[in-house]
Amino acid sequence: MNDIHSHFLYGVDGGMQTEKETLAALKYLEEQGVQGIYLTPHVMEPFPENNSKSLKRHFDNLINGYAGNMDLRLAAEYMLDSSFDSHLEKPLAIADEHLLVETSYLNPPLNFHQTIQKIKQKGYRIILAHPERYLYMDKSDYRKLKADGFLFFQLNLLSPTEYYGRQVWENAEYLLNNDFYTFTGTDIHNLESHRQAFNIKSLTAKLTDRINVLIENNRQVFFN
Ligand SMILES: [Fe+2]
Repeated sequence: MNDIHSHFLYGVDGGMQTEKETLAALKYLEEQGVQGIYLTPHVMEPFPENNSKSLKRHFDNLINGYAGNMDLRLAAEYMLDSSFDSHLEKPLAIADEHLLVETSYLNPPLNFHQTIQKIKQKGYRIILAHPERYLYMDKSDYRKLKADGFLFFQLNLLSPTEYYGRQVWENAEYLLNNDFYTFTGTDIHNLESHRQAFNIKSLTAKLTDRINVLIENNRQVFFN
């Protein structure tokens, strides 16, 4: 697969912390057949040092020490919090045009819809990271978000397992069965927990087929 959501950029957020940890995890994923990865570190209030310039510097350091064959690229995962506007001038977008954004799991952001419109006016499309994890959203929220046609849903690959709990699993199944998702990503922070969860065989053949469509979309849209 090709991944569009991951926390491999070490030492900048709650993801991987050292070069050694990152290089070992990248090697493992290459052995599993992963071809390309967008590194999408968190940009949010708890990490005030993170901005386009500082993250590019960290990314260059990583690339200097990387000897593998995967296509590694830099973007970011933007939290829609009160720091977001300050990053909108020159954000790290996926393929220069898609902004990967997230919200709190428990509460909608203030001015959620105004912020979405602002991003749209700037000429970006939105990829909403893991909508299945936002416990404040219901089915009508999902439908409203998708109505505009420039906002896309990204499934976390481990959501259709117990990894994030039963409710997230059920939300992911609903969204998969009703064709809400366009893309998928690992959202990997730590290899060990992901490695165990990747081995859970809980998916039906039908859901596996639907996830394979998302994996193909990742490749066609961003890694072709
Ligand atoms: Fe993430």
